Amino acid sequence: MYRTHTCGELRLANQGTTLTLAGWVQTVRKFGAITFVDLRDRYGITQLLFGESLQAQLDAQPLGREFVLQVSGVVQERSNKNPGLPTGEIELVVQSFVILNASAVPPFTIQDDTDGGDDLRMKYRFLDLRRNAVKKNLELRYAVNRSVRNYLHENAFMDIETPFLIKSTPEGARDFVVPSRMNPGQFYALPQSPQTFKQLLMVSGYDRYYQIVKCFRDEDLRADRQPEFTQIDCEMCFVEQEDILNMFEGLVKRVFKDVKNIEYSEAVQRMTWEDAMWQYGNDKPDIRFGMKLSNLKSAFRKSGQLLATGELINGAGFGVFDNAETVLAIAVPGCAEYSRKQTDELTDWVKRPQIGMQGLVFIKCNADGTYKSSVDKFYAEERLKAIADSAGAVAGDLVLILAGREEKTRKALSDLRLEMGKRLGLRKDNEFKLLWVLDFPLFEYAEEENRWVARHHPFTSPKPDQIDTMINNNPVIEQAAEYLAHPYANIKANAYDMVLNGNEIGGGSIRIFQRPLQEKMFAALGMTPEEYNHKFGFLLGAFEYGAPPHGGIAFGFDRLCSILGGSESIRDFIAVMLDAPSTIDAKQFDELQIQLNLKP
Ligand code: AMO
Repeated sequence: MYRTHTCGELRLANQGTTLTLAGWVQTVRKFGAITFVDLRDRYGITQLLFGESLQAQLDAQPLGREFVLQVSGVVQERSNKNPGLPTGEIELVVQSFVILNASAVPPFTIQDDTDGGDDLRMKYRFLDLRRNAVKKNLELRYAVNRSVRNYLHENAFMDIETPFLIKSTPEGARDFVVPSRMNPGQFYALPQSPQTFKQLLMVSGYDRYYQIVKCFRDEDLRADRQPEFTQIDCEMCFVEQEDILNMFEGLVKRVFKDVKNIEYSEAVQRMTWEDAMWQYGNDKPDIRFGMKLSNLKSAFRKSGQLLATGELINGAGFGVFDNAETVLAIAVPGCAEYSRKQTDELTDWVKRPQIGMQGLVFIKCNADGTYKSSVDKFYAEERLKAIADSAGAVAGDLVLILAGREEKTRKALSDLRLEMGKRLGLRKDNEFKLLWVLDFPLFEYAEEENRWVARHHPFTSPKPDQIDTMINNNPVIEQAAEYLAHPYANIKANAYDMVLNGNEIGGGSIRIFQRPLQEKMFAALGMTPEEYNHKFGFLLGAFEYGAPPHGGIAFGFDRLCSILGGSESIRDFIAVMLDAPSTIDAKQFDELQIQLNLKP
């Protein structure tokens, strides 16, 4: 037997017991004739005391960091207790020890605040995983996994596996492909998600399906994206949007309770996509704080005045506002006292290439009721007040204004809002705010391709009252200019995203389940009948054999864990990072009957 106990469990009650531990050497401290060693395993750390009688053996077999050690001895009360450690009241007085394996000196310290940089830790991920901080992340991941499974099991969901080597079913990202040896020249695709499989399972009558499953998308890396990631993928029969929202609100609340001991009792807020875009500038708003966007142009148009007319000081217009497609503002609470240096720094911030604005206009709403701005040359004070009022500012606020092309300006101000939220400490790690975003457009127009693309995916159904609009109109557009006026531009999807603290943690939809509507959808996306029958014939065929109404959702499991764990990067919550891709042998190419001929 290698051990009788773990390194995390011994307490004062074990005093006097003779026992055996096994683990890794964390530290070795020699004090004259005695040596202290901290021994670590997954469960904790126990202090070992090597007395005088063992020093000769220790001299002959010196212990180093990360050596694997087995020790036997007697538990005794410590004279110098460590209240920060669960085992801090005791130590093991070693009677005998065996070095089970030596270790090279690790390239970084195996401690919470390690001296290892990101790259080094990723290269030696197996050592990084020995660190408590990383282990905690994986423990949290497992806790979320258990909580999810329990909830879904209690609600009659059945875990059903679906294949990985599949026929390409595009979902908007790029596929990873795998060559087939048995069918030279043919390729499998790895699933971007099990979307069509779960729909087939609904046709088969499985009613409630789930899977915690790997998905593969050949996308560019970002902090919240990996090419290989995990979804909590779910699907239900005979449901409407409301049923899904209730069921999965319940799931996330249960995870909060089980994993964070947070009672999220209020109903999850809901917002239309349009409101999200107008009020927050993006489709996954962080609603932990306000600072909503105001549209100054439309505000002043509504009240019959254009922004730049009226009491302009010099009579000439302020071109930056007059000529801009849009002028948007936020009121930042309590920042009216920003110094010149601070406003200059914010201006530089919006001019960075990632944001790409030409400049920033600000108005300080001073506590004494006066207004000061970077456009004092152009606007009289009462005019500044009118602008600040329409941005919803109160005394003490700093109004930040961006002007330019609509889409870019909105995105830039949304980023600035998030940045200000962060700087002012309004985006707290320990506060969690859920939000459903609803009523997305069904289609988006892809300019380069001059065609519609599905905003969610091609299996998403339109709102029930817009099905006729879809069926009765010809989806084919000849001229790009026709896009905005086309009836399809206003069709809303029966789709929903769940947002947590400004991150999209899940998304889904009520599906199309009838062949004619599904064909119309494929046609709208620019596919010919030959194309859609080739790619999706299996699904269309299944729809002819009694497909029930159905809908579902998938959560980004890694993302959910990283937010619950208070980290920006989902990589912190994924155990193994592999040194891939790499080249393959000539023999493997031969077997696949493939010749490598990279394009220059
Ligand atoms: P969608 O593509 O929105 O929907 O994905 C669902 C959720 O998965 C997470 N996610 C990712 N996480 C890490 N890395 C990535 N590259 C990545 N891509 C997506 C997000 C997202 O909200 N089949 C549909 C779901 C459905 O309709 O039921 C789907 O895959 O958190």
